[in-house]
Amino acid sequence: MNTKPIGILDSGVGGLTVVKEMMRQLPHEPIVYIGDTARCPYGSRPSEEIKQFTWELTRYLQKFDIKMLIIACNTATAVALPEIRAELSIPVLGVVHPGARAAIKISRGYHIGVIGTEMTIHSKAYEKALKSIRKKTKVTGLACPKFVPIVENGEIESQETKQIVAETLAPFNNEKLDTLILGCTHYPLLQPVIEEYFGNNVKIISSGEETAREASVILDHTNMLNKSNEQPEHIFLTTGSVDRFKQIAENWLGTNDLQVENVQL
Ligand code: DGL
Repeated sequence: MNTKPIGILDSGVGGLTVVKEMMRQLPHEPIVYIGDTARCPYGSRPSEEIKQFTWELTRYLQKFDIKMLIIACNTATAVALPEIRAELSIPVLGVVHPGARAAIKISRGYHIGVIGTEMTIHSKAYEKALKSIRKKTKVTGLACPKFVPIVENGEIESQETKQIVAETLAPFNNEKLDTLILGCTHYPLLQPVIEEYFGNNVKIISSGEETAREASVILDHTNMLNKSNEQPEHIFLTTGSVDRFKQIAENWLGTNDLQVENVQL
């Protein structure tokens, strides 16, 4: 039994899509979440800068004596996971391999599309992860740099958003995908719009569910599950506006009493 919190980081509100699954699958685990909203998006920044920012978030979370770290950002996972995992003595999880596993599990045609930030697509992190599981997988990647600002601004349901989503995803029109990975943790917030675009022909995968499952397995195997039946206290930290973060987070997590604080790194 281990009552320490789990640290979860992202460039902004995207990692909340992983938090939601963590709360569902591991309801007794306290979470400390940090979103670097002030410097979001990360996806079009140079990799050295993304690494530096991810380390800053990691160091901040370490102050809470976390027992596990989840890098709930595909971009940060793609560039910084190996070195953070090598340096920390606690389990460090990313979101790319869980997303790849979930896609392989559900795909039947093995033509898998991946959408993500410019860095995630450029890094080919998903292509490598998918092919490490099943070599004969066709992977088509597409960067969608306009999606993260839409989510961070909370403009998910507008007509303009539908248009931007349709224009951005148009290169997939001639591809016979059977599965699409939302390779950015912000994108599940746009899932209804993305699903509407593809109709029923394409299965949509996000990595939250499989990441939480992996966390659950590791905590169980290492005897680190919090077995107390008390309601855990979660802490949400943002480097940007508390009001905006709180609004998006409460809406997404379906609560109205989140404790959100602004922090400077
Ligand atoms: N949510 C992040 C991801 O999964 C990053 C988005 C960004 O900051 O560009 O890639």
